[in-house]
Amino acid sequence: ASLANLDDTVPGPNRTQDRNKDAAAAPSDGFGNTPDTDPALPENRMWGRAILERIPSSTLGNAAVQAATITDASALNAVLKTAVEHGRAWGALSGAERAAILHRAGDALEARRADLIEVMAAETGKTIDQGDPEVSEAIDFAHFYAERAKDLDAVDGATFVPARVTVVTPPWNFPVAIPAGSTLAALAAGSAVVIKPATQARRSGAVMVEALWEAGVPREVLALVQLGERELGQQLVAHPSVDRVILTGGYETAELFRSFRTDLPLLAETSGKNAIIVTPSADLDLAAKDVVYSAFGHAGQKCSAASLVILVGSAATSKRFHNQLVDAVRSLKVGFPADATVQMGPIIEPAKGKLLNALTTLGEGESWAVKPEKLDADGRLWSPGVRSGVRRGSYFHLTEFFGPVLGVMTAATLEEAIAMTNQIEYGLTSGLHSLDSVEIGTWLETIEAGNLYVNRGITGAIVRRQPFGGWKKSAVGAGGKAGGPNYLMGLGSWVPAEPAP
Ligand code: SER
Repeated sequence: ASLANLDDTVPGPNRTQDRNKDAAAAPSDGFGNTPDTDPALPENRMWGRAILERIPSSTLGNAAVQAATITDASALNAVLKTAVEHGRAWGALSGAERAAILHRAGDALEARRADLIEVMAAETGKTIDQGDPEVSEAIDFAHFYAERAKDLDAVDGATFVPARVTVVTPPWNFPVAIPAGSTLAALAAGSAVVIKPATQARRSGAVMVEALWEAGVPREVLALVQLGERELGQQLVAHPSVDRVILTGGYETAELFRSFRTDLPLLAETSGKNAIIVTPSADLDLAAKDVVYSAFGHAGQKCSAASLVILVGSAATSKRFHNQLVDAVRSLKVGFPADATVQMGPIIEPAKGKLLNALTTLGEGESWAVKPEKLDADGRLWSPGVRSGVRRGSYFHLTEFFGPVLGVMTAATLEEAIAMTNQIEYGLTSGLHSLDSVEIGTWLETIEAGNLYVNRGITGAIVRRQPFGGWKKSAVGAGGKAGGPNYLMGLGSWVPAEPAP
């Protein structure tokens, strides 16, 4: 069942049940994960259908976006001056005082769950079953960082000095959770924030920011901007009042930012080219399901997505795995998210360049197990593709594509599969499907990626349980993992406390 595709009659949303998260477990650090909307409940499917009806004519976020476009350097300077001035009072609050406002921000995001799902679907094509857990993640960031803000008050022998202004430049693919996470972290750490949502997702970012304003974060402390000129991006990032820049995006963007300013205090989570290894000991049914979800959820447009599955030994010749993978991929219904039956949405813009190439041409030795087809005139709707016979060292093996195409590779041994994965210059997420504890141990010891998942899909990190951050070319600059206990510590500076008189 999805959030909207069955016929029921009971009204009203209900998020009291959750099978996957441990909200009820009452952890010791004052935080529990927010449950997603359970599509097993009839009232939730009613709620989902009401969202679907609004998507085609949604105007959410438009007004905020129009108000905030900056067209020259003096307007940009004014925003930063205001942020610095008002940020002082914000940074002078105790962590506990900021925490109270951030908890309200979490509640405000929950109150606008339907709006956030709607605007993401309308603006970027994200299906509502992908949008719902994304809103939960944003809410989790608010409550989790609120609690961690209190930690900053309690470090013995050192005083935390907040950044003056943190610039947040999030991507379009998680247009609510990633901007919310970066913004809430910086606010929790006492910094003013200037956020520039991705151009393709400016409305989604605006609705998220509105929720934070509604909760009591002052507009002067949290400035939402769009930039009318490309050069203003450089001026924003390189501005002398900016003490931190939190970027989530491509590796090349991080390099570009660094070229703007040599001492740029950057925390960047960048590109990924992620693999799931499946060994003969694996539960192959579970592996097929997790590979399909990781590769084609949000049409493969996650930095965490599976781009490769590497089949070890007899897993490579398993008809059972092959048939399940191919049948599941062929059965995915592709379309725009206002259609309740759609399981995989569009790509963000008509396929071009590297992605178009990956959807239409094969490398040496490769063949289509499932051939992608263009389903609309524009080239935004593509059926998902699976290519077999991807060779070690080939273009597909080593290149990030960010779309609905999966490559299948084979390896004689687990060690060879690990070497094939580690040959990739990125290291964001990585997965292993195996029921053998020796194999799991070997893989955990040697795989080069920031986020490791065993017998689980490789997307959808859960706040606190799976702190998220990259390794190798999937990270640039310094910083802890997002959604982890140390992330705020790197968002300001520390000075030794005055010795007692
Ligand atoms: N946090 C996202 C995920 O885990 C990726 O940015 O899928």
